[in-house]
Amino acid sequence: MAVASDLAVLLYAEGESLPDVVTALCEPADATGRWKQQTIVYPRGTLSARRLLLIGMGKRSAITADTVRQAAALAAQRAQEIKVATYHVGFNGDLPLPPAVFGQAFAEGSVLGSYRYTRYKSDREEVPTANAVLLLGAGSDEAAAGVRRGQIIARATAFARDLANGPGNEVTPAFLGQTALELGERLGLKTMVLDKPQLIEQGFGGILAVGQGSANEPRFIVMEYGSADQGPTICLVGKGITFDTGGISIKPAEKMDEMKMDMSGAAAVFGAMQAVAELQLPLHVVGIVCAAENMPGSTAYRPGDIIRTLSGKTVEVLNTDAEGRIVLADGLFYAQRYQPAAIVDLATLTGAIMVALGPHAIGLMGNNQELANRLIAAGEATAERVWQLPLWDEYREAMKSEIADLKNTGGRYGGAITAAGFLAAFVGDYPWAHLDIAGTAWVEKPNRAYQSRGATGVGVRLLVELLQGYVG
Ligand code: BES
Ligand code: MN
Ligand code: ZN
Repeated sequence: MAVASDLAVLLYAEGESLPDVVTALCEPADATGRWKQQTIVYPRGTLSARRLLLIGMGKRSAITADTVRQAAALAAQRAQEIKVATYHVGFNGDLPLPPAVFGQAFAEGSVLGSYRYTRYKSDREEVPTANAVLLLGAGSDEAAAGVRRGQIIARATAFARDLANGPGNEVTPAFLGQTALELGERLGLKTMVLDKPQLIEQGFGGILAVGQGSANEPRFIVMEYGSADQGPTICLVGKGITFDTGGISIKPAEKMDEMKMDMSGAAAVFGAMQAVAELQLPLHVVGIVCAAENMPGSTAYRPGDIIRTLSGKTVEVLNTDAEGRIVLADGLFYAQRYQPAAIVDLATLTGAIMVALGPHAIGLMGNNQELANRLIAAGEATAERVWQLPLWDEYREAMKSEIADLKNTGGRYGGAITAAGFLAAFVGDYPWAHLDIAGTAWVEKPNRAYQSRGATGVGVRLLVELLQGYVG
């Protein structure tokens, strides 16, 4: 830690001895290494840093990538408060994790810990984010590679947060289309944005029905990274409802404002596309976004309407607030044309998943256990935890209509799973997983130091980890 700076940070495990120079500066009782304990000491020349922040990591055996991510976020927040330009961070003793894993988690926590959505604050202070420098002895090359990966992934997550925090009057379907074109331009993705006349011409009956009540016309967006000869094809499909009023089956006023985040699945797809392109993963990744605004009005679709989706399958609309599955029907069917090795959709699909799992897990349902297992493992690795629910035939049966092929609601119970039962009708036999992120996409109060109030950007880190698993 022999670096001159305004702030140095030392992460240390509980009950482990600190260097003598550090011990000399503090009361042992104030620096036990208890998890998240923060102690600031002032070396006054005994070390080259003006301040030394000690962050307790808890028991060494309990240190994971996620504790490192959280500690790095706490350090970033202190650095921001003190307004330092650069700070240095070290770990006391042997590194508790492989250096690449440590470096990645450190960078993710550092970048995300200082994320705030300030775009519309006129009086915002322009504090440039402090530059976090990781100082390690052994394994520093691997750690540095991890840091670079972590920075890419965290910036992609922040991009997803910005989109989902963006209000409905800014982040419209057309805005998402424009965002895709700009992303494609910047990263060399092949992009396609279909507008309303093109959707009509090509028969996207699901997206059109949901979007028909809004002056902000729907879009269908495809972003393609790589090509099929470069590696397996993975399709990522995002629900992009830029505002969900519920439509004619209108939602109550309370907290309706939060429904600007109903495009969080799309935001995760955008973030993942940015990250895979910047990481140059040897894969073929197709990002698909179904963007529409769900509004009531004289042109809106109604309960009782029967619509014909892109697949040709007809849907009886029983509740216009079950709109996510209708737009996804077109996106999932479209994904089949790539003959993908996997289709993964992300959607803030149901209140029922919030009842089932609360804010601590993404709901997973699908038709392929191998893909499900990959996602569960990626969830453990990233702490974007995933919990699987069954998708037995009974749940698919519950979505059959008397007068059309399907209906869009399946009764009160098991609502998250019957929603998945509906989606299952549009993926054919391709390996498919559905991630219901309604409970995890938004936090009123952060659960982790690397979150901030509002959009979490959930799904980006998970998807990148999943995709990394298909490499090689
Ligand atoms: N976007 C909502 C789900 C949602 C609720 C996301 C709360 C995030 C927070 C979705 O479109 C919806 O309205 N689902 C209905 C379905 C019902 C009508 C079958 C729901 O869950 O109540
Ligand atoms: Mn809805
Ligand atoms: Zn919705």
